[in-house]
Amino acid sequence: MSSQTPLWASADFWRKVAIWVTAGSFVILITLTFDSLAKITPGYKQVPAYNVINREIDYKSDAQHLRYIPIVGKEAPLFGRLWSDSEAEALVTLGKKTVQAKNCMNCHTLLGNGAYYAPDLTRAWLDPNWSSPDEREARMLAFLLDPEKNAVTFGSGRKMPNLGITDKEAHGVVAFLKWMSAIDTNGFPHNFKSINHQED
Ligand code: HEC
Repeated sequence: MSSQTPLWASADFWRKVAIWVTAGSFVILITLTFDSLAKITPGYKQVPAYNVINREIDYKSDAQHLRYIPIVGKEAPLFGRLWSDSEAEALVTLGKKTVQAKNCMNCHTLLGNGAYYAPDLTRAWLDPNWSSPDEREARMLAFLLDPEKNAVTFGSGRKMPNLGITDKEAHGVVAFLKWMSAIDTNGFPHNFKSINHQED
């Protein structure tokens, strides 16, 4: 009787299919995991190395790519100095950890992820509301240290509360925001005018 059972109806066949599909999916999953890890590692094509905080950053519509792309330009010290690779990594990491510890995503989006109460922070470094590239660093620090007293209008009609960030952490956050603004996000956000060419 069993010899007449067609292949597709035999339990043995489906057991083998289950094993092969599971094993195949496992291999694909592991491969894609390593592929993704490589792509989000700083220094890879779309994610700049941490020392990008020593450079001028801009964000422009690019005709060839048909989307907005970050432009990394000439040397532009942060807080009046250039940071070595390891110093830059430590500063950006401090900023990233502060952003996580204070849960900025509770109100903001970063790279499009988070909450929609407050503006997206992906290109906050390039926001024209900081008035001018020369005043930006001081204004960002003052704002992060005391957003109530040093409010800048970002057009949300809402106020950011004081989150008790230390001076060192605020420097880290500014470096983190500068680094993040240089990440190529495949054109997100679209039509964002950077502080460097408000008159265009
Ligand atoms: C309780 C909500 C809330 C939290 C938490 C919060 N913010 Fe904000 N933030 C706001 C609001 C609201 C604004 C916009 C204020 C305005 O429009 O004048 C803002 C504005 C900003 C801006 C200016 C945005 C721009 O477009 O340039 C920056 C930078 C910023 N926040 C950074 C942070 C960081 C960093 C954290 C975490 C350490 C944080 N915020 C946590 C509510 C919040």
